[in-house]
Amino acid sequence: MSELIRLVYASEAAFEAAPVKQGVEPSVARILMQSRRNNSRENIGGVLYFGDGHFFQALEGDRNAVNRTYQRIAADPRHRNVTILSLKTVPNRLFADWSMKYVPVEQAVREFVRSRDYQRFEPLRFREEEAEALIKLFHQQQNGDAAAVAKKRSWFGLRNLFFSSRTGSAGN
Ligand SMILES: Cc1cc2nc3c(=O)[nH]c(=O)nc-3n(C[C@H](O)[C@H](O)[C@H](O)COP(=O)(O)O)c2cc1C
Repeated sequence: MSELIRLVYASEAAFEAAPVKQGVEPSVARILMQSRRNNSRENIGGVLYFGDGHFFQALEGDRNAVNRTYQRIAADPRHRNVTILSLKTVPNRLFADWSMKYVPVEQAVREFVRSRDYQRFEPLRFREEEAEALIKLFHQQQNGDAAAVAKKRSWFGLRNLFFSSRTGSAGN
């Protein structure tokens, strides 16, 4: 096992994104499926964001495995201007539970872009500090999601308990 690293890059989509009201753009969905299949095999993971025709992705895991995957990604004709924004040795993975987390178009990203004086999502212009800040934001949101899921679960748990006990008493 070599070192644990996090590599963050940005690129420009080489395809015209289909307009989607809900869910994931179809080309991006295919990329996501491929990523999840391969990354779980390689024991790597991370996060992917797609907005304004640009990709922003972090890959985390063993240095050799991340390098191998990045070489394949960089040669993929579905995007161009693939540019590394940050490459670091890290003590642990921020997205350890994800072979590839997908962040949908979100208010938080719009606010981030505005707060940094960009007109739109232009990650190819991000400085290293900006790339790191956005990754941290995605990480925090992940924890927010987990809290929301836990909350929902406990609500459903209570509801199920209520209904099952009612059913139980009706059956008696
Ligand atoms: C923006 C973008 C992100 C990608 N991310 C990953 C990834 O995280 N892991 C991966 O294996 N392939 C990823 N791919 C796909 C690779 O470029 C390549 O097509 C794939 O790894 C080939 O795998 P296969 O030989 O199993 O078909 C990505 C492609 C693009 C355009």
